[in-house]
Amino acid sequence: MEWKPEKEGQEPVYKQIAKWLEQQIIEGALPPGVSLPAERVLAKRFGVNRGTVSAAYEDLRATGLLQSWQGSGTWVSRHLWGVQQVPNWHNYTNGGAFLPANPLVQRIREAVFDPSVINLAKAELAPSLIPSLPNRLYESYLELGYAHPKGNPDLREDLAVHLLEQYGIAASPEEILITSGAQQGLHLISQCLLSPGAAIAMEGPSYFYSLPLFISAGLRLYRLPMDREGIVPEEIRSLHQKHRIRMVFVNPTYQNPTGIVMSQTRRRQVLDICKELRIPLVEDDAYYALTLQDNRKPPKPMKAIDTSGMVLYVNSMSKTIAPGLRIGWLVGPRSVIERLADAKQQMDFGTSSVSQQMAREFLEKSRYETQMQKLAASLLQQRETMLEAMQKEMSGLAEWNLPEGSYHFWCRLHRPLDERELLDVSIRAGVVFTPGGVYGAEPGWLRLTYSWETKDAIREGIRRLAQVILSM
Ligand SMILES: Cc1ncc(COP(=O)(O)O)c(C=O)c1O
Repeated sequence: MEWKPEKEGQEPVYKQIAKWLEQQIIEGALPPGVSLPAERVLAKRFGVNRGTVSAAYEDLRATGLLQSWQGSGTWVSRHLWGVQQVPNWHNYTNGGAFLPANPLVQRIREAVFDPSVINLAKAELAPSLIPSLPNRLYESYLELGYAHPKGNPDLREDLAVHLLEQYGIAASPEEILITSGAQQGLHLISQCLLSPGAAIAMEGPSYFYSLPLFISAGLRLYRLPMDREGIVPEEIRSLHQKHRIRMVFVNPTYQNPTGIVMSQTRRRQVLDICKELRIPLVEDDAYYALTLQDNRKPPKPMKAIDTSGMVLYVNSMSKTIAPGLRIGWLVGPRSVIERLADAKQQMDFGTSSVSQQMAREFLEKSRYETQMQKLAASLLQQRETMLEAMQKEMSGLAEWNLPEGSYHFWCRLHRPLDERELLDVSIRAGVVFTPGGVYGAEPGWLRLTYSWETKDAIREGIRRLAQVILSM
């Protein structure tokens, strides 16, 4: 067995191993009934974790190519020979237009479901910060039919008022599409408004880099560098000259992962350049409302100051109320909303009508404002707890900026470490975080999230992480 998986390759290592084993079986190098090496042995030979080999074996068991019995090891299936009789699920799962998630993201996803691991990765409100629902919703009205393709008309009316009051955005209900989270808004834009091969520009590092959905849509991604005030506007022009940029994606307020707030001047400059070049801009504003108590309010959203209808605005209730509702919205010109509503109707027949009715209750002004005050105070305390823990444990190891809103510290290690290894060792030590590579950052950056865990767990998580960094 001279072959070895490519550790830095695009494809997850376990998939490479599964594919290779499958090839050996198809070619007859591993005939029916033959025993495979123990996971531990193969892991050593390939220089990978045992879990990686275990995942490859599991994949092949699911296709029927391998069998195993507790205590008796794993062998090539005796019953299904020839192999051709079973569908080759590998080829199917490696086909299709939609790319798998980044392997680091896959690893984090596994870890966040392990209750023994302290979670500094999950960008989600702790259950205690999620508001409860009034009972009358269940008693009086629940419409359970398919929703309107653009979303529940009453919710869109309410949202038009909410957007004006809370964000300064003037939009009619006809300019609003209800989506299944902000994510679906981004997905619809990438699938319906851009053709494969189109070039788009986005902040680097950015949440958008964690989404293979842009690559899956065949788009070419170009990075807009940032300074403390957000993206450098002139970079849009130079990228456009070189690559003919078709759309710009930004997350100007409490940018995920850096926490940067784009200044008001920059917002205007960016809009002016986009207008001059006639490039539409997508504003993802998922964290806008999350200013921590006693901190400066951010400038108005770009959509609120856009006078030429060039901004497509994406937001949701995920970061302020509850991500499980899967309620988001996209605001844009009517013709765009109609096109996207048509596509959404074809994909999923509309967002859940139950969630949309719940959303109306949560957006009721006094309930919403009470929730936002609670979040501003609680998230500030969470941030302070993480800050104290970092000052105590990490000051010799890393540097960071103090976030004024949202959920995350963006922090840079003084000595960059291999991020896969750091993540693996940390998870084994019982703490998970998000390595900057997920967002397209250079090695050495980490995103540490304080919205999910209790204060004690935050302190303990930072302590464990610091120990891991010191030990490497
Ligand atoms: C910047 C940003 N945009 C969009 C989303 C997607 O949120 P949702 O689809 O839950 O609204 C997230 C989630 O983490 C995010 O961080």
